[in-house]
Formats: sequence, structure tokens, C-alpha cells
Amino acid sequence: MAVHIAEHPLIKHKLGLMRAKNISTKDFRDLSSEVARLLTYEATKDLETEEVEIDGWAGPVTVERMKGKKITILPILRAGLGMMNGVIDLIPSAKVSVVGLYRNEETLEPVVYYEKMAGEMDKRIALILDPMLATGGTLIATIDMLKKSGCTSIRGLFHVAAPEGIKRVTDAHPDVDIYVAAVDERLNDKGYILPGLGDAGDKIFG
Ligand code: PRP
Repeated sequence: MAVHIAEHPLIKHKLGLMRAKNISTKDFRDLSSEVARLLTYEATKDLETEEVEIDGWAGPVTVERMKGKKITILPILRAGLGMMNGVIDLIPSAKVSVVGLYRNEETLEPVVYYEKMAGEMDKRIALILDPMLATGGTLIATIDMLKKSGCTSIRGLFHVAAPEGIKRVTDAHPDVDIYVAAVDERLNDKGYILPGLGDAGDKIFG
């Protein structure tokens, strides 16, 4: 697994704004979507294109278009929904798969309550969306579901990740690429990321 940490100043600036204690729901939603859009740019840089000839204004012209596997985006309910519009802005034809998981706050283990994958998952690149990668349990369970559906090309986009979670996911799924706006310091004893964002789900949904 490769972990790609965003270096772009706009991502750093917007993520910094998201960390404010008293941020409004509107601002958190807007920034979550904007950071997701910028992470999508990073996470799709190496996708293949092919040359095709089209009729241009001055005659035939060779242009590039996307080639190979189609994309499905996969927001993890709930908080991943806040990233979805930003990604769809860049990839409007992407199919959407959805999984719902919440973390049992005592055991910190993920609980799956919804799963609906797009069709032909074996032919798709999946972009998982979730603002937070904490212990890594939610991401591992999501990747397990994706692989079971036949998907073999998986990338995850996160606003903040804890080193402990990255290590756990790396060990469980070494073939998955992670794109993250920031790797934070650590988890606290309740499994929250420090300094982190707080509860992103509550900040987006209220
Ligand atoms: C948060 C977050 C991730 C998960 C990360 O969701 O959005 O999905 O926790 O934790 P983990 O890496 O330790 O598994 P939460 O359980 O708060 O659900 P919500 O999005 O519905 O609020």
C-alpha cells in the first residue's frame, strides 16, 4: 500500500479551517467537499488515457480521453457523504456504491448496516470516501466488502488519518492506495484522532 500525503497549499489551508472548534455546519460541509475535490485530483493523476481523433474547428485533431477501468465512488455513511459532491464535480459519470458502517464506541469495532455496490465491480476502480481513518477498522471492513464484490483496484481518500490506523490497513490490505490530506499525531484512548477534526459525522449532519 502506498500512502500519499497531500502537499498542496490549498489542501493544507482548507484542512486547517476544518479543524476549528466552532466551525459552522455549512462551512464544514463546503470545506469537506472542496478538500475531497482536490484529493480526487491527486488520486487520479496516474489513470490511463488514450488518443482519439475527433473533428476539431480546423479539421481532424487528436485528443486524449480516459481509458480503462471506469470509476465507482464509495462514500462510507455517514460522513463520507460530505465528500461526495466534490468528487462528482470532477468525475460526473462515476457510478456510486454505498456502504454504511458505524463504530461501536466501546469496542471500537465497525458495525456494517448497509451495502449496495454498483454493477460490474470487477471492471471498476473504487474510490472510497471517508473524512477519517482512525483505528482503521472501518476501512478494513469496507475493503473486505469491495474485494468480495470482485473489485481489485481500490483507493481511499481521507481528510485525516492516524498513524495507528494506516499501519493496521497497510498490514491487512497492502495493495490499496491511500490519499490523505494529513497524517495526524495519534489516537486518544477513545479512538479519536488527535488533533483531528472532532466528530465529522456530527459536524456534517448536526
Ligand atoms: C467515523 C469515520 C469513519 C470511522 C473511522 O465514523 O467517519 O467511518 O469513524 O473509525 P475507525 O478507523 O476507527 O474505524 P462514525 O463511526 O463516527 O460514523 P458516522 O460517520 O455515521 O458518524
